Amino acid sequence: MKMNHNPTETKLQFPKGFLMGAASAAHQVEGDNINSDWWYWEQQGRLPKSGLACDHYHKFDEDFALAQQIGLNAMRISIEWAKIEPEEGRWNSAAIEHYKKVLQSMKARGLTRMVTLWHWTLPKWMADKGGFETHAGVEAFARYTWFVAQNLGSEVDLWVTINEPEVYTNGGYRQGIKPPFKKSLLLSRRVMQNLAEAHIRAYKAIKSSLGDAPVGMAKNNVYYEPYRKYNWLDRLTTYVVDQISNHYFLEKTQKHMDFIGLNYYFYSKLKFDYKKGFEEMNHNFNYGQLSLEDSINRSDMGWVLYPKGIYEVLLALKKYRKPIYITESGLADSTDTRRPKFLRETLGWVRQAMDEGVDVKGYLYWTLTDNYEWQNGYEPRFGLIEMNYDTQERKVRPSAKVFKEITYV
Ligand code: BGC
Repeated sequence: MKMNHNPTETKLQFPKGFLMGAASAAHQVEGDNINSDWWYWEQQGRLPKSGLACDHYHKFDEDFALAQQIGLNAMRISIEWAKIEPEEGRWNSAAIEHYKKVLQSMKARGLTRMVTLWHWTLPKWMADKGGFETHAGVEAFARYTWFVAQNLGSEVDLWVTINEPEVYTNGGYRQGIKPPFKKSLLLSRRVMQNLAEAHIRAYKAIKSSLGDAPVGMAKNNVYYEPYRKYNWLDRLTTYVVDQISNHYFLEKTQKHMDFIGLNYYFYSKLKFDYKKGFEEMNHNFNYGQLSLEDSINRSDMGWVLYPKGIYEVLLALKKYRKPIYITESGLADSTDTRRPKFLRETLGWVRQAMDEGVDVKGYLYWTLTDNYEWQNGYEPRFGLIEMNYDTQERKVRPSAKVFKEITYV
């Protein structure tokens, strides 16, 4: 179908029942994740300290009340494996009771509950045994999933098994910037294989425990374009990279997936290179490398802002014939000057993809409150709600008003 309107001018209108919410992850907001591998590396001085984070472990109800107040009807949270199974085989019933309360509070605040089982942090014992480098790690994850499904199953509406397999393996096993700080092509491949299996095992564990509860994963897809539109080498490179990074994992796991969770952040132009294979031409900088003249079309992270990219990656997912939830989309913008436009345009493009037949069921902005941005610490500000980490005060940013502009028909 041809584009019939400019999505940026469209009134934000979504079908009734569409999930409109925000996403978060346990380690980034809860605080005191003392039995995790990340915490260990933080104490070793390899990573910024997360400490109390947003103290969401205690302030969850306040956060969900704010989510409701700004007009959201869903939240994606993650539960922390290191808190539920702090030692191998020892299940912490207090943590389970805690998450029960968290999930009940979400329900009371009118929020549909999407729960991620694993968002990058491992229990320290599991990391010591090689994490997802080993098959035992896959078994451990399946056991943990089964336990959670049995104990929290009635309080979860939608399950996400794992978060962004490629970002995890690239950061931890290729670039060596995230735990376990390794650089090995062999290991990164093995971890990818094991994560695919971990997803499938978790899918089966949830199904056998809970019957038809919907299960998916959060897949990070990038919108790639050839740098030179008519250069066949650039086009071929783009095709190959797109297949490997966007589709390989989905193709391996699609039979065990009720929906696709899409995390979209990146737009990338690829140029063929004889030595390196390819070069990325609109560099998505690392945090801190941003130059001033660039900042207009980039987030504070240095990442190019391209709302239309979400439409392109959504169309490319149509072939899987699955419902899609956008499980993350967002930007770091401490001044909150780019966020309103980004949100309106992004939602407009999501709507356009829906008009062209993509079955999108929900949009979860990353993230509700500013939080611990992994190896970049607390400086990047992704939140709809501003955090004062000294006082733990929350302040709703003006951009959050965009959610009240939406009508559901
Ligand atoms: C991750 C989040 C992270 C966000 C922004 C995603 O890759 O799932 O945990 O905070 O991107 O970097």
